[in-house]
Amino acid sequence: MDQFLITGRSRIAGEVSISGAKNAALPLLAAMILAETPTTLRNVPSLQDVRTLIKLISGMGIDVQKEGNTVTCDTSSIANYFAPYELVKTMRASILVLGPLLARFGEAEVSLPGGCAIGSRPVDQHLKAFAALGAHITVENGYVKAKAPKGGRLIGCEFTFDMVTVGGTENVIIAATLAKGTTVLENCAREPEVVDLANMLVAMGAKISGIGTSIMTIEGVDSLKGCDYSVVADRIETGSYLAGALMTGGDVLTKNTNPNLLHPVLKKFEEMGAIITTGDDWIRAQMHGRPKPVDIRTQPHPGFPTDMQAQLMAVCCLADGTSTIIENIFENRYMHVPELKRLGANIKVDGHTAIIRGVDSFNSAPVMATDLRASMSLVMAAAAAEGQSVIDRIYHIDRGYENVEEKLRGLGVTIERINPNKPHKP
Ligand code: EPZ
Repeated sequence: MDQFLITGRSRIAGEVSISGAKNAALPLLAAMILAETPTTLRNVPSLQDVRTLIKLISGMGIDVQKEGNTVTCDTSSIANYFAPYELVKTMRASILVLGPLLARFGEAEVSLPGGCAIGSRPVDQHLKAFAALGAHITVENGYVKAKAPKGGRLIGCEFTFDMVTVGGTENVIIAATLAKGTTVLENCAREPEVVDLANMLVAMGAKISGIGTSIMTIEGVDSLKGCDYSVVADRIETGSYLAGALMTGGDVLTKNTNPNLLHPVLKKFEEMGAIITTGDDWIRAQMHGRPKPVDIRTQPHPGFPTDMQAQLMAVCCLADGTSTIIENIFENRYMHVPELKRLGANIKVDGHTAIIRGVDSFNSAPVMATDLRASMSLVMAAAAAEGQSVIDRIYHIDRGYENVEEKLRGLGVTIERINPNKPHKP
């Protein structure tokens, strides 16, 4: 199992180009299934999760090709509507193929995604909404079997989500595009990745209003065509690299991004004492001295994103005072805490609340990545620590950060990927 060998202490400074967003690319790839003619998707990040979803869609007989960061998809050869457990269990967002299959072909058999490290992550809202659209849903032997009503088309409806769900909103918007009649969805997620998906669906010929708001109206159409679309920049990758500057008195310029995607994060960075400057497609964070402590509550967009919680906690660990974080989205998203404590952090967790008392510096130590965003918080902490740290199970980071070593090296981090089970190349 690969590990990272990181030698601190580094001042994280330099320029980094931001990739397309993983959490936009995945629903966009699923939505390509809707198109009756070929689609081209650009700025697709080369990540494990993207490779998994492409493999899953190819398994249906669909012709999906990825050349660099461009994916082309031709659905004319589709042969089945099946998503196997072997793939879905490795990438939960695979459930997003359910909506397009059901909408276009009137049937789908998709493995229930398991939970994951950060929570049970049920999909009850997705299934409840599909039923409201007239689908017959059964769950047998760990698979969701869905069938559109007689005639093969979903029927537009009014549906309100019981809680804000990004994947649920995405799956149901996709399904509603081809339903008979109009669908009104309330309590929708407003994340930038949901907006990106809706914008691509409109480019394919869908009729959607209320994009970016919590009430979306989708007027069903008979068919959708392919389009040429580019994935929105990754706001979480952007925030992760900027956080490194705050931890090390650094100076990071992120390019090919968009400051409008992560205002709540930039506001917190400024509260912590960073100098934030922005342009249309770039953001710079300069830091002098220690971060100031802050209080953070994770919330659905436009609140503070849960996917930045672990990275901000690592910054709080070095703050000049006590910070509090309340994680409101997932029930188990503090697994980075014991690992940060191994690096010298002073953190107490009580239910959903973490109290972080700032320390002067991290010390190096061997630690273990537990989930995607936790792994980046450990990388930044190890880079800020004096001495050599080893981070185990870094397959987590490969799921969501494209060319991560190269980008970190470009920011002054001394990092090497090693595998203790393979002889170390001198
Ligand atoms: C998406 O996950 C993201 N993943 C997550 O990013 C992100 O943390 C999350 O949204 C919240 O912003 C992708 O987009 C691929 P949810 P998703 O449905 O859609 C509960 C990362 O690190 N819920 O908004 O699965 C759920 O348990 C990942 O990139 C139900 O109860 O998240 C959670 O507590 C991690 N029933 C809350 O809602 C449902 O049917 C929010 O989940 C659906 C969700």
